[in-house]
Amino acid sequence: MSEDVILKAEGLGVSFGGVHAVKAVDFALRAGELRCLIGPNGAGKTTFFRLLSGQYKPTRGTVTFRGKELKSLLPYQVARLGIGIKTQVPSLFEGMTVAENLALSVDRKARHAETRARVDEVLERIGLADLRDRSCAELAHGQRQWVELGQILASRPAVALLDEPAAGMTHSESVKTVEIIREITQHSAVIVVEHDMDFIRMIGERVTVFEQGEVIAEGSFQKVAKDPQVRAAYLGRKETADA
Ligand SMILES: Nc1ncnc2c1ncn2[C@@H]1O[C@H](COP(=O)(O)OP(=O)(O)OP(=O)(O)O)[C@@H](O)[C@H]1O
Ligand SMILES: [Mg+2]
Repeated sequence: MSEDVILKAEGLGVSFGGVHAVKAVDFALRAGELRCLIGPNGAGKTTFFRLLSGQYKPTRGTVTFRGKELKSLLPYQVARLGIGIKTQVPSLFEGMTVAENLALSVDRKARHAETRARVDEVLERIGLADLRDRSCAELAHGQRQWVELGQILASRPAVALLDEPAAGMTHSESVKTVEIIREITQHSAVIVVEHDMDFIRMIGERVTVFEQGEVIAEGSFQKVAKDPQVRAAYLGRKETADA
């Protein structure tokens, strides 16, 4: 396997009772890579992220980050090592402002002036400078998603796991989200889970397809969109049938 692999899963799996949510996944992410992860509902994408971020412990196989096995680490230790996650569930502090929420994600060792500069830079990158002092409770859905992506920009993890960052967004909001994800790749390797095929097409990078806890295809968008097994997994889903 190539030397610049930053995150690797080998034979990775987890079961809940009799449910094999993730079966025996082999996966490798290179430093600086932007990878898309797709698959039908319940395919195991979020569970895979939880295994990578230490929230779930594997019942088989391993996760290795920069050559170090994550097995014995708690989620906060994994985060500190450099794996950041944006979950499907909103995670902002509602009573705090946009700038305050972003400041929480800047390295704790940063001085006040550095934190302020980083927050200002992120506000520009996510296009929310005007909303700096607005309470997060007042934001629209898309804006909140961007603040969460801003937290990833502020913390600059080596690997960023983004679980459905464009869920519930309009097309133009999704376009902006793609731009923000490209900003994130300046400092982080990224894995992004999305259902929207237009979004995956806009990203235009390597795609990994999950179905029933397994990787069933991997390659360019064009390649996986043509794959009969992928099409069968999405049967009845217009977006893949049209791809
Ligand atoms: N803590 C848990 N306990 C029991 N079953 C679980 C648990 N977490 C996940 N599962 C099961 O694992 C399977 C995969 O779920 P997961 O949420 O990873 O899918 P997903 O690909 O993220 O789906 P979606 O696209 O809907 O977000 C499902 O059958 C789910 O019910
Ligand atoms: Mg999910």
